[in-house]
Amino acid sequence: MSDWLGLDGKTIVVTGGSSGIGAAIVKELINNGATVVNGDLKEGEFKDPKLKYVHTDVTDPDEVENLAATAEKINGEIWGVVNNAGINKPRVLVDPKDPHGKYELDVKTFEQIFSVNVKSVFLVSQAVVRRMVKQGHGVVVNMSSEAGLEGSVGQSVYSASKGAINGFTRSWAKELGKYNIRVVGVAPGIMEATGLRTPSYEEALAYTRDTTVEAIRAGYSSTSTTPLGRSGKLSEVGDLVNYFLSNRASYITGVTTNVAGGKSRG
Ligand SMILES: NC(=O)c1ccc[n+]([C@@H]2O[C@H](COP(=O)([O-])OP(=O)(O)OC[C@H]3O[C@@H](n4cnc5c(N)ncnc54)[C@H](O)[C@@H]3O)[C@@H](O)[C@H]2O)c1
Repeated sequence: MSDWLGLDGKTIVVTGGSSGIGAAIVKELINNGATVVNGDLKEGEFKDPKLKYVHTDVTDPDEVENLAATAEKINGEIWGVVNNAGINKPRVLVDPKDPHGKYELDVKTFEQIFSVNVKSVFLVSQAVVRRMVKQGHGVVVNMSSEAGLEGSVGQSVYSASKGAINGFTRSWAKELGKYNIRVVGVAPGIMEATGLRTPSYEEALAYTRDTTVEAIRAGYSSTSTTPLGRSGKLSEVGDLVNYFLSNRASYITGVTTNVAGGKSRG
C-alpha cells in the first residue's frame, strides 16, 4: 500500500462498484487505504473489511439518500463520490429496414438510459454534495465515455447521456468551487470486457453499424480504432479516478479526461 495519494482512511462512495470499471475503481481505492461504500443493485464478488455494500437503485431518491447517509456515518464525512453506474443499449434513430423494430430508438429505451446514466448522477451528487458543502471539501468524479465526447454510430442516446454528464461536470465545477469541491470527468474508450459487453449488446451494436459481431470484436484491439492497438485495462481507469480523488489533483476541476489509448471517432 502506498500513501502517495493520501486516501488512507478517507470514505469514498462509488456507484455501480460491483462490476467492471466500478469494481476496478473500488479495488484500487481499497489498495490505497480508503473505505469504500458501494451503491449497486447487486453485491459484487470482491469483499474486503473496508468495503461496505449498500443495496441501491441510483434512480431512486430515497435509496440514494440512504446511501449518502450510510457513508457519512462511517467517519463523519464523505471525501469523494464516483458516479459510475451506467447502462448502454445500441439503437439507431431510424431503421429503414425495420421501422419501429427491435433496434430503432423508442421512448422506453431513451427514458431508461437517461434515468440510469443522467438522473442518477444528479440525485447521487445532490445527496453527497449537500454534505460536502457543510464539511468544506469534496471531490465528485463523473464517469463519462469517449462516445460522449465524440459521438458514436448506434449509440446516440448513450452518447447524449454522457454529453449531459460532461455538462454537469463543467457546470458543477463552476458552482461548487467556492465550497472547495472539485468536479471532474473520466471518459474511457474501448476497455476490457465488463458487464456492459454482453452478447446482446454486441449483436445490437453490429446491427446498428451494419456489420458483424466478429468485425466489432476485431475492432477492440485494432490500431485503426485505437492508436495504441489494444483495449484499455480496467485498472487504467481505476488509477486515474484514484488520482483525481486525491489532493495530488487539487487544482484540476471542470474537465473530462479521455482514457482511450488515443481513440477518437472525430
Ligand atoms: N466498458 C466500457 O468500455 C466503458 C467505456 C466508457 C464508459 N463506460 C462507463 O463506465 C461505467 C461502468 O460501466 P461498466 O462497463 O463497468 O459496466 P458494468 O455493467 O460492468 O457495471 C455497471 C454497474 O452499474 C450497476 N448499475 C446499473 N444500473 C444501476 C442502478 N439503477 N442502480 C445501481 N447500480 C446500477 C450494475 O449493477 C453494474 O454493477 C458506466 O457509466 C459506463 O457507461 C464504460
